[in-house]
Order: sequence, then structure tokens, then C-alpha cells
Amino acid sequence: MRQLLFAANWKMNVGPDEARAYFKTFRARYLPHEGRDAWFFPPAVSVEAAAQAARERNDMLVGVQDIYWEPKGAFTGEVSAPLAVQAGARAALIGHSERRHVFGETDEDTRKKVAAAQAANLVAMLCVGETLAERDAGHTLAVVNRQLSGALGGLDVAALDRVIIAYEPVWAIGTGKNATPQDASAVHKEIRAWLRGRGATRARVLYGGSVNLKNSAALLAEHELDGVLVGGASLDPEAWAQLVQTPAA
Ligand code: PGA
Repeated sequence: MRQLLFAANWKMNVGPDEARAYFKTFRARYLPHEGRDAWFFPPAVSVEAAAQAARERNDMLVGVQDIYWEPKGAFTGEVSAPLAVQAGARAALIGHSERRHVFGETDEDTRKKVAAAQAANLVAMLCVGETLAERDAGHTLAVVNRQLSGALGGLDVAALDRVIIAYEPVWAIGTGKNATPQDASAVHKEIRAWLRGRGATRARVLYGGSVNLKNSAALLAEHELDGVLVGGASLDPEAWAQLVQTPAA
């Protein structure tokens, strides 16, 4: 059976009190299902509250949306991997499209962040994906390969096997236009080929970008998808509890 991962990216939403209320509802509506994990990426200020609320459930885990690569020091406004761990985080999103395109994060930044996450024992979830212009120009696979090489090129097999990749086409994020299951699957195959070329066969590959209750079953019917990374449709705990129960063949 596939171990499916449903990851919620709350972005800049849900404060600590709201996170506690969210988990109360979610835990009541969603009991553990074999072969499924539910992960949550709250804003940094809510990580501790979320981690506390998720702590009794083995199938639930909390991570941060970003880290800075230095472990500590004079970097006002930033959160390091060791600090995130202290707050209860066990994973970190790295290179989310909004980090790359709103905040100018580079492939080299993502490389340093993946290394910092792994050094602190956080699971690094690397986000990759092309813009609409890149897709229209036929550059999707070249962009994804460049992002993979930039962030993961220096890792050995054991480190690669610990990474999770989230393929999130930029044009699909928050737009209501998801990639078709076939398109997502084709890029996932390329990602797995890149990993296999370096001897890594265990890394999980998720799809993200306008996943919702209407399209999740069709997407997860593709066996190339080990799960989904979801923004908007994860913000309501009742709807998210339903989405995490999406039937998957
Ligand atoms: P969306 O966001 O589900 O709202 O499109 C996904 C993401 O940015 O991770």
C-alpha cells in the first residue's frame, strides 16, 4: 500500500489560538487511517501551538514554511532549523514558489536551506515548479531539473532518500487551475528519473497547486503521486479532514 502524505501549507494564515481550535476540530473529524499521514506547515509563530496539538498523533507532524541556513546569530526576522526544532517542528518547506518569486530565493539559497534542515534532523520538503511562461516555452522539465540540481546536486544517496519533493507548477498555485493528473504524473516521472540517476529510490514526490476536494481523487489515482501539498483547501479543518480521506486506488 502507498503511504500517502497530505501536507497542509497554511502560508500567512492561522495564528496560535486559531491553530489550537483548528486541531481540536481536525482531530475530532479525522481519526488515523492506515497508510496516511497528515502534515501541517503553519506560520512560524504557530508552530509550537500546532506541534503541541498534534503531539498525541503518530500520523500527524508539524513543520515550518521556511528556514534560514545559519544556525543562529544576527539575522533579524529569520528562523533557523535548530530554533524550529525547539518549537516542535520536524520538517521544513524549502524553496516554495512564493519564497522564490515573491522573496527572490535562489537555487543556491535552497541548497543551503536543505543542508541546514537535514543537519538539524528536519525533513526537507523541496518545492519545485515552472512558471506559465516557462511551461509555454516548453521548458518545464529543464526548469525542474535545474531546481533539483541546484538544491540537491551535492547530496549523497542517504540524504537524497530523506528528501521529499513537492512538484508545484507556479501557474497552478492559488489559481484554481490544477495540473491534470497526467501532466503532474509526467513531471513526477522526470523527478524520479533525476533521483534514480543518483541512486536514490526512496524519496517521496507530492503534487501541489489548486488541489481541492473536487480534484484530489483524480490526482491521487495517479500512482506517481505519493501525496499532495495543499494551501487554500487546507485552511478549513472540516474540509481538510475530508480531503485527507480522499479515496485513492
Ligand atoms: P494552493 O497552494 O493549494 O492554494 O494552490 C499550494 C501551495 O502553495 O503549496
